[in-house]
Amino acid sequence: MERTPGRVLVIVPTYNERENLPLIAARLREALPEVHLLVADDNSPDGTGEIADRLAEQDDHIHVLHRPGKQGLGSAYIAGFRWGLAEGYDVLVEMDADGSHQPEELHKLLNRVARGADLAIGSRWVRGGRVLNWPASRQILSRGANIYVRWMLGIPVRDATAGFRAYRAATLDKIGIDDVESQGYCFQVDLTLRTVRHGLRVAEVPITFVERTIGTSKMSRAIILEAFGRVAVWGVDGLPERLRRRRR
Ligand code: GDD
Ligand code: MN
Repeated sequence: MERTPGRVLVIVPTYNERENLPLIAARLREALPEVHLLVADDNSPDGTGEIADRLAEQDDHIHVLHRPGKQGLGSAYIAGFRWGLAEGYDVLVEMDADGSHQPEELHKLLNRVARGADLAIGSRWVRGGRVLNWPASRQILSRGANIYVRWMLGIPVRDATAGFRAYRAATLDKIGIDDVESQGYCFQVDLTLRTVRHGLRVAEVPITFVERTIGTSKMSRAIILEAFGRVAVWGVDGLPERLRRRRR
């Protein structure tokens, strides 16, 4: 039986997603009518912010957070989390705007949270997880990044860079989001690591990740380099504790 984990806010960060946003908003509202949507737009030059405003005018379950400029995925989510926590939501969800994360699969993540997970990750790299239409280069990047992360950090998560996830509000309170410095996609690894290091329960749920058909990825060399460097620093940071555990 499906259980509801309380009031749910889905945060969708947008940068130049004018065609994708109305589609993903409609799919989410249809799939889970109770759930609220917060669009966190970084003043997209293509007018995504105005489209979000129009959607919000017509639907009291849709909200918009306007940020002054492109400040990165991580910082957009932190701003969205702060908004959602202040509004008293019980569960905060991360989801991309481009259709890669299917709203029709979100109930699986929420179900795991309702059954006790502190963080449910929609995972591409567990049994049953799939990726559709990703070029080989992106598959190698994602798989390589996850191998690097597991090796550096020693966390038992197969898809630590995944961007489709559901956090219990209490999880965000415990791990603390005020001192998060990650700006790009390493933000995902950052919060996964914090959750694991706090001894909280992480569940991975297999999903099908579908590569976007409209618009372009914002992945960049700077984002990869930031991730590479930060993960190394976190790994060195955590090394004494890992060695202590191994000796016990
Ligand atoms: N507000 C804001 N600001 N939104 C952003 C920014 C930013 O600086 N950068 C990206 N986004 C939004 C995009 O508009 C999209 O909705 C979402 O974040 C994901 O961006 P994509 O550019 O489509 O990411 P991707 O498909 O290359 O990467 C996917 O895989 C990564 C690695 O596994 C995503 O699922 C990432 O979350 C994931 O880390
Ligand atoms: Mn994408």
